[in-house]
Amino acid sequence: EKGNHRHFMVKEIYEQPDACQHTLTAYVDPVTGHVSAPGGFDFASVTRLQIIACGTAFYAGLIARYLFERLAGLPCDVEIASEFRYREPAVTPGTLAIAVSQSGETADTLAALRWCQAKGLKTAAIVNAHESTMAREAGMLWPTHAGPEIGVASTKAFTSQVTALTALAVAAAAQRGRIDAEEEKRLVRVLLEAPRLVGESLGVEEMVQALSLEISKARDVLYLGRGAMSALAYEGALKLKEISYIHAEGYAAGELKHGPIALVDEATPIIVIAPTDELFEKTVSNMSEVLARGGRVILITDEAGAAHAPAGVSVIIAPTCDPLIAPLVFAAPIQLLAYHVAVQKGADVDQPRNLAKSVTVE
Ligand code: M6R
Repeated sequence: EKGNHRHFMVKEIYEQPDACQHTLTAYVDPVTGHVSAPGGFDFASVTRLQIIACGTAFYAGLIARYLFERLAGLPCDVEIASEFRYREPAVTPGTLAIAVSQSGETADTLAALRWCQAKGLKTAAIVNAHESTMAREAGMLWPTHAGPEIGVASTKAFTSQVTALTALAVAAAAQRGRIDAEEEKRLVRVLLEAPRLVGESLGVEEMVQALSLEISKARDVLYLGRGAMSALAYEGALKLKEISYIHAEGYAAGELKHGPIALVDEATPIIVIAPTDELFEKTVSNMSEVLARGGRVILITDEAGAAHAPAGVSVIIAPTCDPLIAPLVFAAPIQLLAYHVAVQKGADVDQPRNLAKSVTVE
């Protein structure tokens, strides 16, 4: 069932354009160009969002926060389910709690969802396993359509979660009157381009493979990004740790000076995820700081960003895209990087040590 692929993980990385496309069909009406939550939900009826999730799904939630707040002006908190459920959070009436989970069975996320229901909050679950406990118990089921994900390291489930959340943020922006009909149409067009651009982003594989031997020799790797790309930095670091067993940390690039820069030396690759946007110049400064200290920088950017990369940086060029879908388009390069480094190391990519696909114990 792996087809021509050596591992499920890389097969699933390559299934992302389809997963993204299938997920979009649940949120976007291609004829009317209208975007909405499956089953219908009015985001004007809530005052706050609380996203709860674990691991990679939590990082999808972090990306969503940027979109819901910026596009829809909707306050959005995102918390790791195991922390949320035990810290006795203050409940704001009018909050919609959204659990995000591939399996729909993760014990902490399920418990947090039940906790929110017991407090009388409206709930929704963004899940990939549509017969799961969360799918059954949540007030609303907002599906992802990634199909079964076998690899323990989540890839297509993650981008499907980001797809669903991005579509929901556009719906929220329209329903809350933050964008007009024309802007909604434009954003929907951008959304509908995502599957093709995610497909194009797989074209970085050769560039990534060429760098994988060098990275496989590192003991530590740092990932940096700004805005929604900071969440991709965390996700990139998690992916690398999980399957290659190399110690990796993701940081918001602005935090570099507040500690992690002390780790910079020629043996610690710094992977910077930075499409050209209004913060790009700031990230260029971060790269220069690293280079000045003898650090090794690998920049994942677009064509325009590549033209402005400081000398001495290795560049991986992803497709140019609207910022709305950059987290989707830049996901494949970091997944492929983790994959090829793990393959270099001879690791069991689909069954990493100590990990289970679904964490049903607390
Ligand atoms: O099934 P879930 O989405 O609830 O799982 C959450 C995490 O356990 C999961 O994302 C985990 O972090 C993956 N191994 C990441 O690759």
